[in-house]
Amino acid sequence: MTKAGSRSSEMNRIYLDHNATTAPSSVVREHIGEWLESWGNPSSIHWSGRGPKALLRDARRSLGALLNCDPLEIIFTSGGSESNNLAIKGIHQALALGRMRQIGGLRNRYILSSVEHPSVMKPMLQLKSLGADVQFVPVDRDGKIDLDVYQSLLSPQTAMVSVMFANNETGHIFPIQKMAEMAHQVGALFHCDGVQALGKVAVNLKEWGVDLATFSGHKFYALKGVGLLYARRGLNLESLIAGGGQERGRRAGTENLLAIASIGAMAGLGAEILEKSRRMEELRNELESLISSRISGVHLTGAQYPRIANTSSMVIDGVDGETLLMNLDMRGFSVSTGAACSAGSSEPSPVLLAMGLSRREAQSSLRVSLGWETTREEIHLFVDALDQVVARLRSFRHGEEAMLGI
Ligand SMILES: Cc1ncc(COP(=O)(O)O)c(C=O)c1O
Repeated sequence: MTKAGSRSSEMNRIYLDHNATTAPSSVVREHIGEWLESWGNPSSIHWSGRGPKALLRDARRSLGALLNCDPLEIIFTSGGSESNNLAIKGIHQALALGRMRQIGGLRNRYILSSVEHPSVMKPMLQLKSLGADVQFVPVDRDGKIDLDVYQSLLSPQTAMVSVMFANNETGHIFPIQKMAEMAHQVGALFHCDGVQALGKVAVNLKEWGVDLATFSGHKFYALKGVGLLYARRGLNLESLIAGGGQERGRRAGTENLLAIASIGAMAGLGAEILEKSRRMEELRNELESLISSRISGVHLTGAQYPRIANTSSMVIDGVDGETLLMNLDMRGFSVSTGAACSAGSSEPSPVLLAMGLSRREAQSSLRVSLGWETTREEIHLFVDALDQVVARLRSFRHGEEAMLGI
């Protein structure tokens, strides 16, 4: 069962939606009271600013060590969405103002994959409405990106490429290192949305070879309201929030210290993260083999390509994903039919459609994302429930079809 305080009085709840958000870890819960004592403004030069300033510095250092970057290359933001916006609009604006010495020439092309998160997709479309040339690189049914199309789109006019480390719906891992090298060959910048990487893989920004990278606290067992943008030393990106000189003038506003301290504390876990990830992968594989052996008509999405350890995406024949999700929720299981951001709308996932799945297939999709605390018992209970719910929904459907004479 989750240790996340998600047990309700009437039933045990099993949370399998960790790509949407994670519960703050015990490390965060233990220290939060202590961090609250440092309530001062880190910019104050009197005593009340010293504790908060030290917290900020320590978090930046721990994250620099975890990500293998200089702590001063980290800009704290409110989350992944803000970091993605800052990377894209901050570079575009710096170019427009002629402040981007690092990439010469007249560059107006922006390239992204067709399965990016809306917080990359929408800022790119905003640039397009301002006259930028925005181009999409397609992916296939299993989520694999077309590197030939990518190569053909790269040119000396390319300003920036933005491709995620791993997709939040399918878990598919993109060849970031190679794609960054290809972008650099034409003098373009490379931004990576790494939100789904933290807590699942060892992130080494120098190995990734990217210029900018986005991360988010709440996907990494820290508090909500904090994220960060890594911006390689020397990049003059424009701040989206003008004001005070915080974050070396790249993001104004008094820092969200409690949340920053929480993501710093998570960074301190270092190598432990890989061990947790290995456990999640074993359980994810067990989950998939149990499902495949017990439930017919289940098609795993992109399982033959590299994936992050915790994610399983599948299409279940003859079952509506939303109805399945609601039935599982009534039994205490939290899963997703696609991105949580699009929950509440019955439209199929744009990511799955961009991968070439039909609307019907996309509407029959299920995403299960495990967490550090997920147990084998939970996986078995989940598969039992899934088996029963799928059988029930299919029998209703067959009954309806028989009544209608289909
Ligand atoms: C790949 C990816 N990028 C960006 C985000 C946005 O992050 P945040 O919720 O911290 O704004 C998410 C959240 O779902 C995500 O999965």
